[in-house]
Amino acid sequence: MKVTVFGIGYVGLVQAAILAEVGHDVICVDVDADKVERLKQGQIPIFEPGLEPLVKENYAAGRLKFTTDAAEGVKHGEVQFIAVGTPPDEDGSADLKYVLAVAATIAEHMEANQIIIDKSTVPVGTADKVKAKVAEVLQSRGRPDLTYAVVSNPEFLKEGSAVADCMRPDRIVIGTSDEHAEEVMRELYSPFNRNHDKVIVMDVRSAELTKYAANCMLATKISFMNEMANLAEILGADIESVRKGIGSDQRIGYHFIYPGLGYGGSCFPKDVQALIRTAEQMKFEPKVLKAVEARNNEQKTTLFAKLNKHYGGDLKGKTFAIWGLSFKPNTDDMREAPSRVLMEALWEAGANVQAYDPEAMNEAQRIYGNRDDLTLCGTKEGALKGADALVIVTEWQMFRAPDFPLIKKCLRDPVVFDGRNMYDTARMAKRGFTYYSVGRG
Ligand SMILES: NC(=O)c1ccc[n+]([C@@H]2O[C@H](COP(=O)([O-])OP(=O)(O)OC[C@H]3O[C@@H](n4cnc5c(N)ncnc54)[C@H](O)[C@@H]3O)[C@@H](O)[C@H]2O)c1
Repeated sequence: MKVTVFGIGYVGLVQAAILAEVGHDVICVDVDADKVERLKQGQIPIFEPGLEPLVKENYAAGRLKFTTDAAEGVKHGEVQFIAVGTPPDEDGSADLKYVLAVAATIAEHMEANQIIIDKSTVPVGTADKVKAKVAEVLQSRGRPDLTYAVVSNPEFLKEGSAVADCMRPDRIVIGTSDEHAEEVMRELYSPFNRNHDKVIVMDVRSAELTKYAANCMLATKISFMNEMANLAEILGADIESVRKGIGSDQRIGYHFIYPGLGYGGSCFPKDVQALIRTAEQMKFEPKVLKAVEARNNEQKTTLFAKLNKHYGGDLKGKTFAIWGLSFKPNTDDMREAPSRVLMEALWEAGANVQAYDPEAMNEAQRIYGNRDDLTLCGTKEGALKGADALVIVTEWQMFRAPDFPLIKKCLRDPVVFDGRNMYDTARMAKRGFTYYSVGRG
């Protein structure tokens, strides 16, 4: 099938690459000319396991193309994906300007009947807005004869395993009440549907809400566990034992109940906020969601509070080795990352940071530029040299079994602040470290 994808970000690029991989003929359109040019030269703008070979091979095979030419893009596709960003507006609601701009672009150039697919995470009612925008532009072009369907097809990929998630999706949600659009969507996704039927068809508004409900449920699990961890710390309990104790209940399960430093990234924070705004616009008080957000914002400050307390409120001139900058492992994404809250608080207190991350160094450089109180180090060992203490912010695999004697040798004090509970507390004590972790009173 001929497919057009607007927006070459985490979602658009991965989706385009996997659709091309199974044989579809895909064109990606983006307004970022530099990104398009770099992709044509084989430079992948994001780090995502397995993505680079997929993009390169399908580009070389001619099944995956990149362009800034919207007219060419619209002309190509039998289906048009909208996979552009929906960042928070000033009041936290999802800003739909990019989505509606693409809708207008599709309407400007379409010459045949189209299926327009909302892949971006968008509030309930957006498909109606896209529909209205397309109708408005077609009317102004004098082409109200062209028909189209707007389908909601939210994306559930996880950064860090996006390719695998899209190749083997848990479910494919299709929001439409148009029979033809449903059939085309089923055909488009049939290569990913061999094992068992993963397609769940529902009305558009339910599909739009499904995406927010999923992310908000996951965010709730995280904030709930962080609340339990903070309580465990005060009560002298061990949250890791509690986690195993509750996870063994099949109704709860072991997934996604790790305590830590709060959720970050481009999705959970903005989606929780956006659903809060949607609820408030309908004069409905989203009590649980507000608590989830408040707990998360506070959780991001807990590691700094522990450091500050340990050093008696005097962090001026101290140097901290930070391991992990991305908001979670296996990605270079630092949007809303707990590392940023921590580093900015440390700098505010007059401390210096020596940071290492396996993938997010360029991103850190891009965000913070050159500053005297930040040294970006080439190795995790390099970050330790002369530092007062080690702080672990992201649970990358490579931090799980480090050379502890070396850490001790490099640091001024054998102190480790661990925001991810990477190590066993008794073993850390035996190794001679003062060890702070999360929820292990
Ligand atoms: N990142 C994730 O993990 C994830 C997961 C599921 C859903 N989502 C949702 O998918 C959507 C996209 O997220 P993302 O992380 O891929 O965003 P992103 O910021 O990485 O990429 C968006 C891309 O859209 C391009 N763009 C903007 N306006 C355009 C236009 N008019 N025409 C063509 N291209 C345009 C931008 O240049 C950019 O390359 C968001 O709604 C997000 O909430 C993201």
